[in-house]
Amino acid sequence: MKTSASVLLFTVSLQASIASTQLLLPNFFRNSPAKAASRDTQNPIMNIPNILVPPSKDDEPSAGSDSLSISDVIGKERTINIFAGFTRDIDTISKRLNDEKQNTTVLAPLNSALQKLPRKPWEDPEDYSALGEKAYEGQSGEDRATRNLRRFSEAHIVPVSPWKEGEKVETLGGGKVWWESKDGDRIIQPGNIEVSSIASRVSNGEVWILKECLNYA
Ligand SMILES: *[C@@H]1O[C@H](CO)[C@@H](O)[C@H](O)[C@H]1NC(C)=O
Repeated sequence: MKTSASVLLFTVSLQASIASTQLLLPNFFRNSPAKAASRDTQNPIMNIPNILVPPSKDDEPSAGSDSLSISDVIGKERTINIFAGFTRDIDTISKRLNDEKQNTTVLAPLNSALQKLPRKPWEDPEDYSALGEKAYEGQSGEDRATRNLRRFSEAHIVPVSPWKEGEKVETLGGGKVWWESKDGDRIIQPGNIEVSSIASRVSNGEVWILKECLNYA
């Protein structure tokens, strides 16, 4: 029973990775056969231990849904599966979301919010003005895109949970954020970003779904 649920989770997370690769990652992640092959084989190897072997298994013999971590559940919500893919691909974030000892509030923008950004989350206008059209070609371009994607994603990771109203917290990206309630909705500041819903509450934190992306510049 547990295994089939885990296999399902794994399949969903693999689909999310594929979705994020196809929709938003730079060409070199999509087009290079060597890279694609290594991603295909690496992701399962990296993800299986996280999903099939909950870290708290030995300490908590009666492991129920209480023992699930954010990394176990974030891939289940289809409306945020692009951002979920980013959290898995960036090692600082994936380690944190799998760590039972560190609580996190993940601010996950809807797929539609990512798709309507004026630029891709791995692009930086400064790279284009310094380096031109070839800013993301070759190994150094790939490194640049990876760094930008990390900065974007870390700006959406709040290293506390529960996160109280009005509490100003520095994200993993370094910016300060807080939230206010307005007509029953939660609004993230700065930027007036509305929380559409809270997708999950698990042992090491919560996943909040955002209608827009936070400013990460
Ligand atoms: C971490 O989250 C759990 C579950 O929500 C909570 O009981 C616990 O107090 C939190 N720990 C800290 C340090 O905030």
